[in-house]
Amino acid sequence: MRIRAAFLPTRGSRFGHGLRGLWSLDPAIHFLNHGSYGAAPRHVLAEESRWRDALEREPVRFMVDELPAALRAAGARLAGFLGASPSRLAFVDNATAGANAVLRSIRWRAGDRIVIANHAYPALKNTARFLADRHGLTVVEARVPWPLPGPDALVAAYAKALAGGARLAIIDHIFSPLAVVAPIDAIVPLCRERGASVLVDGAHAPGLLPLALDALGDTGVDWYVGNCHKWLCAPKGCGFIVATPEGQRDLHPAVISNFYGEGFEREFAWTGTGNPGARLAVTAALEFIEALGVERYRTALRDQAREASALIADAWGVEAGAPAQMFAGMVTLPLPSAEPATPESVANWRLKLLREHRIEVPIIAIDGHPWVRISAQVYNELSDYEALGRALA
Ligand SMILES: Cc1ncc(COP(=O)(O)O)c(C=O)c1O
Repeated sequence: MRIRAAFLPTRGSRFGHGLRGLWSLDPAIHFLNHGSYGAAPRHVLAEESRWRDALEREPVRFMVDELPAALRAAGARLAGFLGASPSRLAFVDNATAGANAVLRSIRWRAGDRIVIANHAYPALKNTARFLADRHGLTVVEARVPWPLPGPDALVAAYAKALAGGARLAIIDHIFSPLAVVAPIDAIVPLCRERGASVLVDGAHAPGLLPLALDALGDTGVDWYVGNCHKWLCAPKGCGFIVATPEGQRDLHPAVISNFYGEGFEREFAWTGTGNPGARLAVTAALEFIEALGVERYRTALRDQAREASALIADAWGVEAGAPAQMFAGMVTLPLPSAEPATPESVANWRLKLLREHRIEVPIIAIDGHPWVRISAQVYNELSDYEALGRALA
């Protein structure tokens, strides 16, 4: 489908508030939470609705005759961006659906162990818990300390959890609450030594980290799941799973549909009637990021997050939860408050910042203390983070 260029950034365009108009974000808000749900630019949303229009013009022809090839083309484009062979990639709605496919496809035996970090995303911890209840599994937590002195402490937490062996290890490539990048190169060999298959939860990685997913598969990562709606700015409903040929053998979507048993590509390409526009519009999202400059985008987010973190830390007299080199695009800092954090108190902090200061930012309770996770994005400027610094100084 032909993409109009009205809302594409011009190459080399200056990052900052001048780019805000490329998104439909409320200009009255300092939007410091790109990390939770992303935000799709107008260019990408226009492409998504063009696909929906094409579908609704002749739904049968679209679904039966056009969709399979269109999905293959979009999948190949995304695979190329991720350094994966097209035959290894399938679309899923989101990282949760991808992780559920993996966890629920494994033929568990009572007593099997799943290693997962204490700070892993709740959806994955819950899926492990659900399977443990059903199949008599043991969930072993890799207890990652927070604040985190450095990458070695993360490796040590996994080494300890893996000591008794495991059937499956789950590693967050970027931890959601902590915002730190895990040294997966050091953790994966430990998992393999202990006989564990490996699932990497890369929900935040595409767009923030350079990825070479075929090569990662060769190092022992059986499955890698990720989201495109966060840092690739695709519409919501666009995630992926990359599986090695061996990892595909007994892998099925979390939702079993018409093509069960007909192979990885066919099974994942159809999990019931839905709106495939989000997946098909990933090409527009990649085009958008490429217009910004992929490396330039990644570096700008990393640098903005670090500069923003430094100025907030200075305003509040605090230190980020981990060394600066462990962050990419997001940073987690302690709030300047001695108040203990509860689910209610962090929800109130967020609402107070939004209502009184027009700042959207997540406040997170970690081990009973309130932390804030700031997200960088090219539509922001340091003044947005200064506003947060002032609001709570
Ligand atoms: C580390 C991690 N894993 C999984 C998810 C789940 O993503 P989704 O809700 O898109 O499935 C998130 C969402 O923020 C995440 O941060």
